[in-house]
Amino acid sequence: MPLNLPFINRRDPKPEAETEIDTTNIPKHIAIIMDGNGRWAKDKGLPRIAGHKEGMDVVKKVVRHASDLGVEVLTLYAFSTENWKRPKKEVDFLMKLPVDFLQTYLPELVENNIRVQTIGTKDLLPKHTQKAVDEAIHRTENNSGMVLNFALNYGSRNEIVEVTRMLASKVEEGELAADSITEETFNSYLYTSHLCEPDLLIRTSGEQRLSNFLLWQLAYAEFWFTEVYWPSFTEYTLNEAIINYQNRKRRYGGV
Ligand code: IPE
Ligand code: IPE
Ligand code: MG
Repeated sequence: MPLNLPFINRRDPKPEAETEIDTTNIPKHIAIIMDGNGRWAKDKGLPRIAGHKEGMDVVKKVVRHASDLGVEVLTLYAFSTENWKRPKKEVDFLMKLPVDFLQTYLPELVENNIRVQTIGTKDLLPKHTQKAVDEAIHRTENNSGMVLNFALNYGSRNEIVEVTRMLASKVEEGELAADSITEETFNSYLYTSHLCEPDLLIRTSGEQRLSNFLLWQLAYAEFWFTEVYWPSFTEYTLNEAIINYQNRKRRYGGV
């Protein structure tokens, strides 16, 4: 007798009614590991940087769509602390992207009430990158709509070590009692302290790993992976991820 394995049914196409986005259950915070730019370019016989350029246009589309859906925070992994290992030419190109992106797109961000923020060690970025990002943060700081949070020179282990150092020095100086440190204390020193935790993590390109992204913050996020390379990601792919999220049961350790 065949076993009744419920997970097999998950592969079945969803009934029509379930393929619509439930606008009352939009993830508040979506975090995306935008991966596959290089492979997208390679498939087309183009240099890797062509993939990064195309990926930047996808960011614009996805930001508009997420904001229209009512997402509160969109965190985009743009450059990791490990990405410095790449060839200098590629790193230089990646460091110019925020400048190009904001030059063409900042007016629309301002107009759409979007607030630009960053997480990561900004002062190690080249001056021109810092300047563009700072201007975007400054010009959108009074906006009240979606937070567009770029992880730029971000590494989660580094972030956790920095928090630990800060707390340890406070304990050393007698400002803080070691046994008064709670999860909330720790959380309040993270780059993301003012944001709600990610509800949904998306990674493109078929890789299924975190690559040092938001290790603490993703403790209870729902993960969604797609084979799609970032430059081929569309509004529909985002819808697909959200619909999938909406069909999950978040239990947080309960029943
Ligand atoms: C993601 O695409 C962009 C960054 C990491 C900056 P990749 O450049 O990692 O593309 P693949 O993974 O090599 O295809
Ligand atoms: C993660 O992608 C970093 C960003 C998307 C910015 P990578 O392409 O750098 O990750 P690995 O090397 O495949 O783990
Ligand atoms: Mg990659």
